Amino acid sequence: MTSLTIKTQPIDGQKPGTSGLRKKTRIFQGSHYFENFIQAIWNGIGGVSGKTLVLGGDGRYFNDRAAQVVLRMAAAGGARKVIVGRNALLSTPAASHLIRLNKTDGGIILSASHNPGGPDEDFGVKFNTPNGGPAAETVTTRIYEATQSISEYHIVEAQDIDLAHVGSSELDGMQIEVVDPVADYQALMETIFDFDKIRDLFASGFRMRFDAMHAVTGPYAKAIIENALGGPEGTVVNGVPSPDFGGGHPDPNPIWAKDLVDRMMAQDAPDFGAASDGDGDRNMVMGRGVYVTPSDSLAVLAAQARLVPAYRGGLAGVARSMPTSRAVDRVAEVLGIDCYETPTGWKFFGNLLDAGKVTICGEESAGTGSDHVREKDGLWAVLFWLNILAETKQPVADLMREHWRQFGRNYYSRHDYEAVDAGAANALMDDLRGRLSELSGETFGSCKVKSADEFAYDDPVDGSRSTGQGLRIHLSGGGRIVYRLSGTGTEGATLRVYLEDVVKDASRLERDPQDALAGVIAAADQIAGIAERTGRTAPDVRT
Ligand code: G6P
Ligand code: ZN
Repeated sequence: MTSLTIKTQPIDGQKPGTSGLRKKTRIFQGSHYFENFIQAIWNGIGGVSGKTLVLGGDGRYFNDRAAQVVLRMAAAGGARKVIVGRNALLSTPAASHLIRLNKTDGGIILSASHNPGGPDEDFGVKFNTPNGGPAAETVTTRIYEATQSISEYHIVEAQDIDLAHVGSSELDGMQIEVVDPVADYQALMETIFDFDKIRDLFASGFRMRFDAMHAVTGPYAKAIIENALGGPEGTVVNGVPSPDFGGGHPDPNPIWAKDLVDRMMAQDAPDFGAASDGDGDRNMVMGRGVYVTPSDSLAVLAAQARLVPAYRGGLAGVARSMPTSRAVDRVAEVLGIDCYETPTGWKFFGNLLDAGKVTICGEESAGTGSDHVREKDGLWAVLFWLNILAETKQPVADLMREHWRQFGRNYYSRHDYEAVDAGAANALMDDLRGRLSELSGETFGSCKVKSADEFAYDDPVDGSRSTGQGLRIHLSGGGRIVYRLSGTGTEGATLRVYLEDVVKDASRLERDPQDALAGVIAAADQIAGIAERTGRTAPDVRT
């Protein structure tokens, strides 16, 4: 077999964002684009010679072609072995687990997460390190530097590898092991949750709808929820992964999973509803007639963790990203455990999890997870809820009501302004940054500013500092407004405005969040001049 050395040149813009390199598929298909980036990963991690990697993706358009290229380039780099999910499929949490289980040198995940897929949509590549988590900034910086100095890449000339069947083969001295993408992940879930209890719950007539959104969790949910736990056939819908996710956005939020929301709000709604995203790391949970925000979900999981076998001994601590509501902070206070506040991006939880400082963590962006892997895990969150429901035998709505009564309610919503002109969005942020120190004591409608700052994070484990992580306006009375520019968009800029208000008064716990937050929303617009600067009078997405 021939290993070819191909001359190439640096390509601009190959800088990994919040979660790997994410671009339009056509850009990835451009001449040398994908190969350059893979070679830069190899160069950035000191080569792949003698290393073992995990490889898989969410099944989106170009996943299959890209996987073949990674295999040929790993072989050319002298890798020892690649463990790849059948048909190059692996959910992100399952890939994280395989990296840890097999003690590999890391893995490549092919996914643009919840972004739509197809020739005119998005594709992405992410490198995860041997702890199973997304590469830390030091590593992604080295990879980015490698993209800027690349002059050649190496690739073996070969026919496509058969990835449709489980088994071992060899490519130019490198072993390729095709594995069932679900089996090891399912075995891990069985060690965490009480499958017998959940089986009894389904046997008692409990009804659920899991919307896999035509994405990677379909096969996982079918195997676990329907086959292993006895959920009636049809519990999992949209369960066959498709390259364009059935033409939809595989993003589990009330906008893109509207069909599920409508069904859960209907008279004959099932007891429990859930959805996951393109690569299976996000989750949305609902009860009959009630949507649970990701921030509230994190708080409930922390409060009820002792009902789950793996967490019976209690939690070491919890962590949330800064813009996530502070509902979990109140639970941590009552439990007497530490609560860490990190920048947006799952990678920031890695050190805390590795150091045993936290057991459960989560983000407002529909991510929840624990120390069982180093990624957020959609199906894990759903099973966690099922385990709680199996133990408490309470409807979700009652559980939420009780939670708010005990801890108070953090009304919360995120407003996204998508594809805003990047110049206008940056100017808005720069201008507000410049005025932060003048805002304390100012009043905007019904809101009074207590203090304002820009969030920076000092990692308590490795001492690194991450600055510029979002502008925060703290309101008197406990409310908060946060402004951030998204690090995952592929078109223009996305302005995210995170709105929160804290209510303890028992008579005001069941309002519509948009109504409850009306004053904070108006103040957020006034403080930053959103309408004026972006020309937008309403957000594109409210979660
Ligand atoms: C990805 C990351 C998350 C992050 C989310 C939103 O899903 O894995 O950790 O919270 O993107 O990031 P963004 O920068 O778009 O707000
Ligand atoms: Zn995802």
